[in-house]
Amino acid sequence: MSDSQLQTDDIETLDREHVFGTWRHQRDFDPTHVVDADGFRFTTADGTSFLDFSSQLVCTNLGYDNEAVADAIAQQAKSVPYISPSYTTEPRAKLGAKIADLTPGSLEKTFFSTSGTEANEAAMKIARSYTGKEKILTRYRSYHGATAASLSASGDPRRTVEDSATQPDVPGMVKAPDPYAYGSTLDPMESLEYIDEMLALEGGTVAAVLVEPLVGSNGVLVPPTEYMPRLQEIAHDHGALLICDEVMTGFGRTGEWFASELLEVEPDIITMAKGLTGSYQPLAATTVTAEIAEHFEDELLNHGHTFAGHPIACAAGVAAIETYEQEGLIDNAREMGEYLREELESLAARHPSVGERRGIGLHQGIELTQDPDERVPFERRVDKVTSRTTVLDEVAERAGEEGVYVFTSMNTIVLTPPLGIDETHVDEAIDALDIALEIADDAMDA
Ligand SMILES: Cc1ncc(COP(=O)(O)O)c(C=O)c1O
Repeated sequence: MSDSQLQTDDIETLDREHVFGTWRHQRDFDPTHVVDADGFRFTTADGTSFLDFSSQLVCTNLGYDNEAVADAIAQQAKSVPYISPSYTTEPRAKLGAKIADLTPGSLEKTFFSTSGTEANEAAMKIARSYTGKEKILTRYRSYHGATAASLSASGDPRRTVEDSATQPDVPGMVKAPDPYAYGSTLDPMESLEYIDEMLALEGGTVAAVLVEPLVGSNGVLVPPTEYMPRLQEIAHDHGALLICDEVMTGFGRTGEWFASELLEVEPDIITMAKGLTGSYQPLAATTVTAEIAEHFEDELLNHGHTFAGHPIACAAGVAAIETYEQEGLIDNAREMGEYLREELESLAARHPSVGERRGIGLHQGIELTQDPDERVPFERRVDKVTSRTTVLDEVAERAGEEGVYVFTSMNTIVLTPPLGIDETHVDEAIDALDIALEIADDAMDA
């Protein structure tokens, strides 16, 4: 059978038989064939079209029909499709310089890789080499990647699942509490003093504090304004670097190029991926200060990948950044984020099952509750790894029936549309959620 003869049923069956679904039990994995994607919508083989209000995995920031990026990819594929990282190409050099320009503070030099996971692995190795220390302090409600060290650095339940192939953690990971006023007994600023004490008790052995400045897949957690500057101060007081994982928040999601800017820190290292090419190509970056870069002039950078600085991916990165700039997408994210925030506040007022709205810019979430007084969640952390269908899944499915795609994570419905949306897209999503949230309202404790 030639590929052109494949029908949707064949495709879904072949895929089901030969390709693993990610982060799930396989038995009930039933992937749907997507046949088209255009603007901010994608279409499945049965002709259903969805407004993508999550940018897939918070990554298709530019939508699906960006010709400039597609052309840059095609052109690069026709000139130099690949060359060893020991050479350079115009897009790689341009992108390195552009990232140095856009990132806050004195971030200067970049190591390119292909995923957020790899970007964080590189950041941790660089921090260890630079400081000569081994430990990395991270927080419980966090996700930094899927490989041994990056998953050990994560606090996500995917790290601690029973009988996990990932346990035990790689050595040297220290876990701290989070800024989660709604769902934790610790006040966010008190949790920082706890981190201060932890670092003191670790006796100067921590190389870096690695955090998502705005926590993404662990519930869209926004720290108080004073939090990040104080965290940076604490880290530096104890001789540790601050690494900001901006894999999700980088490239305009919060209405600034990087959330670090908004939250008033100048990290020693920033990691980024998803929005860097608008996900037209797999590309990630680990960008360090001039001072850290200088360390490696005479020290071995003991790290690399075949696809580090892949020319086609870098060409996509340059074109994506030009698109963000030319189309004013960062400003649009800030303006539309404000509108989305207001509409979500009204939605929350209409639906008793919405416990809290959180977020900045176009990185918003609504946490649901069975009981607003006691803040009882519908979904517990363990549900992330059991494949159990929860009320949140039902809400997302209902929104899908209304033509709007959203994803859920940790008892929170996450709303992270592409950055070019307008008010009509927000209205469409709010209308769908208005209908879908009735499921959660009805499921609340009597
Ligand atoms: C904050 C953060 N860091 C790291 C990662 C890992 O990125 P990747 O899936 O590209 O390896 C993710 C993925 O969602 C993420 O959200």
